[in-house]
Amino acid sequence: MLHDRDRIFTNLYGFADWRLAGARSRGDWDGTRALLAKGRDWLIEEMKASGLRGRGGAGFPTGVKWSFMPKTEGPRPHYLVINADEGEPGTCKDRDILRHEPHKLVEGALIAGFAIGAHAGYVYVRGEFVREAEHLQAAIDEARAAGLLGPDACGSGWPFELYVHRGAGAYICGEESALIESLEGKKGQPRLKPPFPAGVGLYGCPTTVNNVESIAVAPTILRRGGAWFAGLGRPKNSGTKVFCISGHVERPCNVEEEMGIPLRELIERHAGGVRGGWDNLLAVIPGGSSTPLLTRETCDSVLMDFDSLREARSGLGTAAVIVMDKSTDVVRAIARLSRFYAHESCGQCTPCREGTGWLARIMDRMVRGEAEIEEIDRLEQLTRQIEGHTICALGDAAAWPIQGLIRAFRPELERRILAARQSRGEAA
Ligand code: NAI
Ligand code: SF4
Repeated sequence: MLHDRDRIFTNLYGFADWRLAGARSRGDWDGTRALLAKGRDWLIEEMKASGLRGRGGAGFPTGVKWSFMPKTEGPRPHYLVINADEGEPGTCKDRDILRHEPHKLVEGALIAGFAIGAHAGYVYVRGEFVREAEHLQAAIDEARAAGLLGPDACGSGWPFELYVHRGAGAYICGEESALIESLEGKKGQPRLKPPFPAGVGLYGCPTTVNNVESIAVAPTILRRGGAWFAGLGRPKNSGTKVFCISGHVERPCNVEEEMGIPLRELIERHAGGVRGGWDNLLAVIPGGSSTPLLTRETCDSVLMDFDSLREARSGLGTAAVIVMDKSTDVVRAIARLSRFYAHESCGQCTPCREGTGWLARIMDRMVRGEAEIEEIDRLEQLTRQIEGHTICALGDAAAWPIQGLIRAFRPELERRILAARQSRGEAA
């Protein structure tokens, strides 16, 4: 269990003052100038040493990503882009960081901007996050008035400005290259990668795109040292993480915990346990809607980190834990996700545009049992034809939950089909 002294987000629940005075009293903006004085190379090496893996879902090492930026400024300016377009179903951690800890993000933006050689940063905030955007803007205004941002940020001699950009409700704009397109004023559609943003990003310039949580933890990591962060969690899965626990638990919550905490301990210690007790658990989606569900047997022992969940044929993703008890119609739950992905497909590439709709329609029939047994395998094959064959990860995200469902609940799919047949008076 995470000790209080190792907690980064000390105002995650908003019990204290989120404004500059309150943030400073909790240690934010403490010695920022001295940190910047250590230089870009030191900052990047320290982030690498921390082992921090990107908190947006993919887990790419943050320090390594910063190191991809050109070492010197050429004719093209460098940009920092912070992804606050949090939209993965079940995920609500960045929302609370923006609401209650905005100064951690603003300070982190300055440090990251300096480390990658950027004089400007953009925070792309999900359109529905109205109050969150207001808090962030207020924090930026306070920081600028106090000289922490601006032409001589923190007295470092480094000019740095941070801008809030509001999204307009499209889930796909959370994909980093669609987000960049949207920032440029275009329709938010993903770009083919490579080139990655560090080579060709915003306005065709070198750009680093990081998630809110990745940036917000950076100042504390750098103040306390990469080794401190690396000492928490498990090898290659270090540090602390904000987990979002929702669904059939007694007390849904966001909580910062050590990476690698057992799933069962996470749910029982922080969310009051599964409604009706652990034995009433049916399945858990461990990392946001795109990660395949885990059955009760796996949930008994699995650890909550990137590598452990990958071994369990799922993923940590955004660490959004969605708990389903035995009252859940699991086929219907996954069918609902299929409709979500079909709706949010940007339509740019055929396997996703056509395939996600097809998946959703088959899943709707599976819910009603109006399918043939052979269609279960056809559904599986369809997911394989989408997975890995699209421009961005939305195609994979639509495929994986269905693969997980078939792996774990094939007998339930078959039972529904046979029951529907019987109710129509057909031979089973
Ligand atoms: P990705 O693995 O393609 O990339 C992750 C990051 O690493 C990107 O910033 C990418 O530019 C960088 N990167 C990867 N390989 C690189 C290379 N060879 N050179 C340079 N940079 C490289 O994953 P992606 O598509 O960015 O994110 C997928 C994840 O996003 C999913 O796992 C899902 O969990 C998460 N997600 C999160 C949402 C949220 O609300 N936070 C919403 C939807 C998905
Ligand atoms: Fe658009 Fe889907 Fe292709 Fe992504 S995978 S680019 S969302 S059509």
